[in-house]
Amino acid sequence: MPLWVWIFIVLAAALFGLKLTYVVSTGLVLPITQGAVYVSSSRVRIAAFLDAVPMPAGQLLIDLGCGDGRVLRQARARYDVRAVGYEINPLAYLQARLRCWGLKDVGIRRQNFWRTRLSEADVVFCYLYPDVMGRLSDKLNAELKPGAVVVSCNFALPGWTPAKVVRPGSSLHNDPIFIYKAGAQAPPPPKLTEGLFGR
Ligand SMILES: C[S@@+](CC[C@H](N)C(=O)[O-])C[C@H]1O[C@@H](n2cnc3c(N)ncnc32)[C@H](O)[C@@H]1O
Repeated sequence: MPLWVWIFIVLAAALFGLKLTYVVSTGLVLPITQGAVYVSSSRVRIAAFLDAVPMPAGQLLIDLGCGDGRVLRQARARYDVRAVGYEINPLAYLQARLRCWGLKDVGIRRQNFWRTRLSEADVVFCYLYPDVMGRLSDKLNAELKPGAVVVSCNFALPGWTPAKVVRPGSSLHNDPIFIYKAGAQAPPPPKLTEGLFGR
């Protein structure tokens, strides 16, 4: 068989193996991610987020579902922040660990972010899925310190009013980026039964 056929077979097998690994690792964690699969933010969108949210050096940025850690790396490079990413997908976690290897003040945790407390975060970044946004807004309401910034790519946080909505100019990347401030939100509506049964 000619050499080019061998090269073609090896490349096709490698590509197939990679795709298969992606499908298996994504499928394995689907009950936890609930549709927020491993898709990375583009450079343009991360730049738009960083332009809109300047961070003093030393602040703590948390990426809920950090993929390959690109948001953490770019934020760290631009603002000298401390950056922590949570990632449950084994393939994404491995890529994040490799790409962030040796970076000072960048941490990658293979952990379900629903099980972590966010009270120390100055900025929380997420690019998730509509099915989890309601639960996430409750968690952020309960745990964030006043003044903390929340950045959500593509999907709004129910019940929260954005301080700003950014749309990067490029037509390919112009889905909204919602920016919120914790503590500036309206209090939740009273429970239906509140005040009905005096005590
Ligand atoms: C759309 S990707 C975004 C990746 C990265 N933040 C970015 O913008 O490039 C969402 C990621 O969140 C992860 N994820 C979803 N739910 C999670 C959870 N409960 N705990 C940890 N990671 C989660 C997924 O595995 C996926 O890699």
